[in-house]
Amino acid sequence: MADEASLRERLRQVPTVTAEFPYFDTDAAPDDPIELLLEWLDAAIEGGVLQPLAMSVATATTDGHPSNRTLILKDVDATSVWFASLDSGPKGADLAENPEAALVFYWREQGRQIRMVGTVDPGPREVSERDFLQRQPSARARAIAGRQSEPVENFDAHLKPALKKVEANPDFVPAEWVAYRVTPWSVEFWQAERERDQVRLRYLKEHAGWVKDLLWP
Ligand SMILES: Cc1cc2nc3c(=O)[nH]c(=O)nc-3n(C[C@H](O)[C@H](O)[C@H](O)COP(=O)(O)O)c2cc1C
Repeated sequence: MADEASLRERLRQVPTVTAEFPYFDTDAAPDDPIELLLEWLDAAIEGGVLQPLAMSVATATTDGHPSNRTLILKDVDATSVWFASLDSGPKGADLAENPEAALVFYWREQGRQIRMVGTVDPGPREVSERDFLQRQPSARARAIAGRQSEPVENFDAHLKPALKKVEANPDFVPAEWVAYRVTPWSVEFWQAERERDQVRLRYLKEHAGWVKDLLWP
């Protein structure tokens, strides 16, 4: 227990706010959260945030078993954000029975978090195909060599023939590769600030459009 107590103490000493962060002018926030997402995304990319496209994507079964993983943001359009994966693994199974996801971006260098909850559906087939064919050959081979998230015994023995298949059929796209589109109905922007501590602005989709609220931190 002594070790646990000292770890707890050590964790308590770790600073949570380590830099000057951007000022979040919530009065000037646009009416559409996608617009603000694009502004913040641009600032993250231009501002040198490490892995700005990495987002956590949580899903759940209909009986409430949650799971979460990091995925790469592939696109943002007027209403949705996109990621791509195999639909044959655990997240695909969750989404097939419960097509909703909760997403989080955390851009620590800028003290920013964006949370979203939305409905998920597979995009048009040609978007999935284009996405897959833009991947490196080794990533394409990995996707077709075995079943994602299942135990593997001899990785190389599976990967080598898959690499050969990719070289022989450079246009091959497995049916399981899906570009998923998440259309949010809730989007929250969170900004750490030294003076005001934390600022939270939530957008909720109502019939008449997006409704904005500042949230108590
Ligand atoms: C930074 C990062 C980016 C990732 N990007 C993807 C991705 O775009 N698509 C994907 O299927 N898995 C990606 N992964 C792996 C997933 O986190 C996860 O391990 C995998 O998709 C299996 O998830 P599942 O078992 O919940 O279906 C990424 C992992 C990390 C750490």
